[in-house]
Amino acid sequence: MNAKPIAPERLPDLLRGLPKAELHMHIEGSLEPELIFALAQRNGISLPYADVETLRAAYAFSNLQSFLDIYYAGASVLRTSQDFFDMAWAYLQRAAADQVRHTEIFFDPQTHTERGVEMDVVIGGLHRACLEAQSQLGVSASLILCFLRHLSEQDAFETLEQALPWRDHFIGVGLDSSEVGHPPEKFARVFARCRELGFHVVAHAGEEGPPAYVWAALDVLHAERIDHGVQAVHDAALMRRLAEQRVPLTVCPLSNLKLRVFDSLAQHNLGRLLDAGLVATVNSDDPAYFGGYINDNFVQTFAATGLGVAQARTLALNSFEASFAEPRQKKAWRDETEEYLERFS
Ligand code: ADE
Ligand code: ZN
Repeated sequence: MNAKPIAPERLPDLLRGLPKAELHMHIEGSLEPELIFALAQRNGISLPYADVETLRAAYAFSNLQSFLDIYYAGASVLRTSQDFFDMAWAYLQRAAADQVRHTEIFFDPQTHTERGVEMDVVIGGLHRACLEAQSQLGVSASLILCFLRHLSEQDAFETLEQALPWRDHFIGVGLDSSEVGHPPEKFARVFARCRELGFHVVAHAGEEGPPAYVWAALDVLHAERIDHGVQAVHDAALMRRLAEQRVPLTVCPLSNLKLRVFDSLAQHNLGRLLDAGLVATVNSDDPAYFGGYINDNFVQTFAATGLGVAQARTLALNSFEASFAEPRQKKAWRDETEEYLERFS
């Protein structure tokens, strides 16, 4: 079905109402300053910021590492299973309001277990929120456990061991944190083990790191999706590979802007990735830190880059195709998307 043109002023509403999947969102990155302060008070933790405004004012980043330092500090207020539930529930309500039908949520267990918070506290709270999202909001939600790449492979293996009693509560594993200097090869063996165990595998690559990291995520880790991947445009052979094999990229425009991967949103390469036939998707990464949830990413990026209805349709369909949901469910969401666009025009 071809997307029909609409009056430009209706595009933001079309984007907001578009059914979509979110496949790249770190749940710890959805902790709003208000919730950080509320959880700190509940858990008797004192923060090195006077109030919500002072904390928010600290969200001025020069690169990925400058963000990660404050992101890990923010996560230190999470102690109980209820804390993890409350964080995820707040995100899931926002996602439902943004017409997210399905979300695959990253979590970073090592950030918590290294502070003495048990794995069952982390996974238990998040899993309960995912169950309630389905029953109360009609949002399908699953979890992806991410290994922190600045830590060792041994640490990743131990984390996997600790998580295995809850293997039914997460569908896959990912790789995040400081990219440059920590190439995918460092985690070859632990990812091989995860694949043997039947987990889906994804990896951050080509956010700040070079195309070589994307090649390694594909060829060494056998990643089924690449998180970010925007640096792939610097390698024509890699672009062909990603397009031909329909390897999805989970792109996060506002994140790229805030972490200075691009100087402005107008310079973002999302349109170029789509033009080259890649299965690109739009996601929020760490919405509480980067100034917006998934619909803010859609609306602001479309306004800045001049994308239109045809790209909106492709991005929504890509998000369902790229998900790890069941084929029948994917088809139902794709049909819903086409019906929505038909009705809108
Ligand atoms: N952890 C949270 N957000 C991240 C990002 N954008 N890149 C790498 N690791 C992350
Ligand atoms: Zn990310």
